[in-house]
Amino acid sequence: MNMHKYEKIWLLFGTATLLVFLTVVGVSAFYMGNQPPSCAVTIDPEKVHETAPFDNPGLVEIGDNEYQLTIVASAFNYDVGTDDKVVQIPKGATVHFNVTTADVVHGFELAGTNVNMMLEPGYISTYTNTFKNAGEFTLLCNEYCGVGHHMMAATIEVIE
Ligand code: CUA
Repeated sequence: MNMHKYEKIWLLFGTATLLVFLTVVGVSAFYMGNQPPSCAVTIDPEKVHETAPFDNPGLVEIGDNEYQLTIVASAFNYDVGTDDKVVQIPKGATVHFNVTTADVVHGFELAGTNVNMMLEPGYISTYTNTFKNAGEFTLLCNEYCGVGHHMMAATIEVIE
């Protein structure tokens, strides 16, 4: 079979691209442990306020500068466990976000960070983030959830 030179180059390029892609996905999944979020962690959406730890939202220290932050989202509020909806976290802390919604779908986004999750009724969404820089971060809702959608906010303060 006679193949044109450009055709060979193109085939070689295609095969190499595929190999690079599979290598990147493989290393990411098996070596670095990047997995899609679990859909297996469920909660009865009718009993969110009675189910631990969501019956007592807020920040809990679980290790050396390591915290679990439990938050309950509902229309149109983030219950972060404080009256002023401000959570203070020391700089450098690793925070495990543990969030669910008591009613409809909300978009949990901590502006300026990689924390960005969809909250679905019946599921628990988790994400771990280390706060390397001090500052004030706004927790907002990026999924339209009703008339008060724009008022859904809280603040994470990373202090020195
Ligand atoms: Cu919650 Cu928009």
